[in-house]
Amino acid sequence: MAPSPAGGRKPLMSGNWKMHHNHFEAIQTVQKLSYRLTTADYDAVDVSVHPPFTDLRSVQTVLEGDDVPVALGAQHCHWEDKGAFTGEISPPMLAKLNVTYVIAGHSERRDLFGEDDEMVNRKVRAILAAGMTPIMCVGEHLEEREAGTTDERVSAQVRAGLADVSAGQVGALVIAYEPIWAIGSGRTATPDDAQAVCGVIRGVVSEVAGQEAAETVRIQYGGSVKPTNTAELMAQPDIDGALVGGGSLDPDDFSRIVQYREA
Ligand code: PGA
Repeated sequence: MAPSPAGGRKPLMSGNWKMHHNHFEAIQTVQKLSYRLTTADYDAVDVSVHPPFTDLRSVQTVLEGDDVPVALGAQHCHWEDKGAFTGEISPPMLAKLNVTYVIAGHSERRDLFGEDDEMVNRKVRAILAAGMTPIMCVGEHLEEREAGTTDERVSAQVRAGLADVSAGQVGALVIAYEPIWAIGSGRTATPDDAQAVCGVIRGVVSEVAGQEAAETVRIQYGGSVKPTNTAELMAQPDIDGALVGGGSLDPDDFSRIVQYREA
């Protein structure tokens, strides 16, 4: 597989704020981020921020009002358009706020809120149907890595998550490889290990959706991405971006991650 630039895939650097930043803090964070990022950055990479639901409208207003080319993202959604699902948010509601990317199947949703592969697949299809781009997360637990079943686990998640998604749609979406043991732990997969699994993911995409989809699908790495380790991860041929949690909360750190080319 050709390296990212040769593959023509524009890297996507996404900040997943999880349950951090109220809407006032969110406004300040995107404003500060926008002061630090330059046209050269936006030319080189796509950037998205994924605030909590209560911040989306405020962040949308700042991004659109100030013409900031950072994409608005969400962290989660339901798969139905509407209905009796107390506490849930639907894909069309997000689309109305000009949300571009929606994370589906983050390991915290899978492990803490019982989301399984079938639910993730329903969400991926619903997000696409609403005209947005899913960032579908996959990744293994530490026990699976130690048992040598990482490739098997991640491949099964990719296959299940992409069921009944057309080849064209698969080619346009984003898959985030997030080894669960690396999330919020300060432990990062080595660039070689991360590349190996991202290569496996691209291979599975090729099997289920064809070579063309495999060449265009963007694969992010996530799990303790920091300003100091981004460049070496991004140098890997099958890593096309990063899904950043803790390192995206501070606009100084996140802008340095986005600007990894200068590290
Ligand atoms: P982290 O989280 O960067 O804090 O490890 C990554 C994620 O969960 O998306």
